[in-house]
Amino acid sequence: MASSLVPLPPMFIGLTAFLLVTAPHLLAQAKTPVAPGPTAGPLNVTAILEKGGQYTTLLRLLKETQVGEQVQSQLNNSYDGLTIFAPTDNAFSSLKSGTLNGLNPQEQVSLVLYHVLPRFYSLTTFQTTSNPVRTQASGNNGVYMINVTTSSNQVNVSTGVDDAPINDDLYSDFPLAVYSIDKVLLPYDLFGPKPPAPAPAPTKVPKKPKKAPATASGPTSEAETTPSTASLKGRSVGWGFVVGFGLMSIGSLL
Ligand SMILES: *[C@@H]1O[C@H](CO)[C@@H](O)[C@H](O)[C@H]1NC(C)=O
Ligand SMILES: *[C@@H]1O[C@H](CO)[C@@H](O)[C@H](O)[C@H]1NC(C)=O
Ligand SMILES: *[C@@H]1O[C@H](CO)[C@@H](O)[C@H](O)[C@H]1NC(C)=O
Ligand SMILES: *[C@@H]1O[C@H](CO)[C@@H](O)[C@H](O)[C@H]1NC(C)=O
Repeated sequence: MASSLVPLPPMFIGLTAFLLVTAPHLLAQAKTPVAPGPTAGPLNVTAILEKGGQYTTLLRLLKETQVGEQVQSQLNNSYDGLTIFAPTDNAFSSLKSGTLNGLNPQEQVSLVLYHVLPRFYSLTTFQTTSNPVRTQASGNNGVYMINVTTSSNQVNVSTGVDDAPINDDLYSDFPLAVYSIDKVLLPYDLFGPKPPAPAPAPTKVPKKPKKAPATASGPTSEAETTPSTASLKGRSVGWGFVVGFGLMSIGSLL
């Protein structure tokens, strides 16, 4: 009976107590380096821009186009983060008058989205990124791009129409970077030279073969058959494209 009540050696008790006291502490310490930097509440793009004090036009556009909401929800759900170029009020007021009003609502959305990149870029990552860089804007010709150039510590962003140095960041901590810029970035697709109105597809219209004189009875020459063969080929390529596109569309429905 008495043998089962043998007290535990004091050293063992001491060790257990030591572990109990220190283990949670050790765990907490192990966790610290893994956790991201401290964030004071959820990121709020509007609040960051408001605090900057000179972005009222951008804030208005973000609201009117509802891009602000879109950006905020993207930020909430993003693995790659976001980068925003924030043109100052001066940048907007130095635009040629009518620039904004000359855009239809859809184009205004594109203009604002052009200032948003679908991942987080620190100034350092800008220096090593390869051009062109995708923006959030897109149109009939696909995604609107920007180029980023750097020399020593200066980073420039260019659109093919204008360019701006990237100076201060209003915020730069994954997942969000907000850079102040002194110019509104004008997408090439909206402000570049307009392509000339497409000519009525001259290559697709087969040349009307010269009407052979009714009296001619010799065998048709090579020169006369070639164009019609070419146009047949052209047509089958065209149909291949249409069919391929149809299949793609069906594929995307499935
Ligand atoms: C973000 O900040 C703005 C301005 O400070 C505020 O009106 C808005 O409610 C905030 N949004 C969220 C989701 O906290
Ligand atoms: C983003 O997340 C914050 C906090 O979780 C939430 O208050 C806010 O409504 C969210 N905003 C959007 C647009 O989803
Ligand atoms: C950035 O732009 C400024 C003026 O637009 C120009 O002087 C400078 O050379 C550019 N720097 C780079 C690295 O492109
Ligand atoms: C980016 O640079 C490439 C190569 O110089 C050029 O062809 C392209 O038009 C540029 N795009 C923009 C948006 O500036």
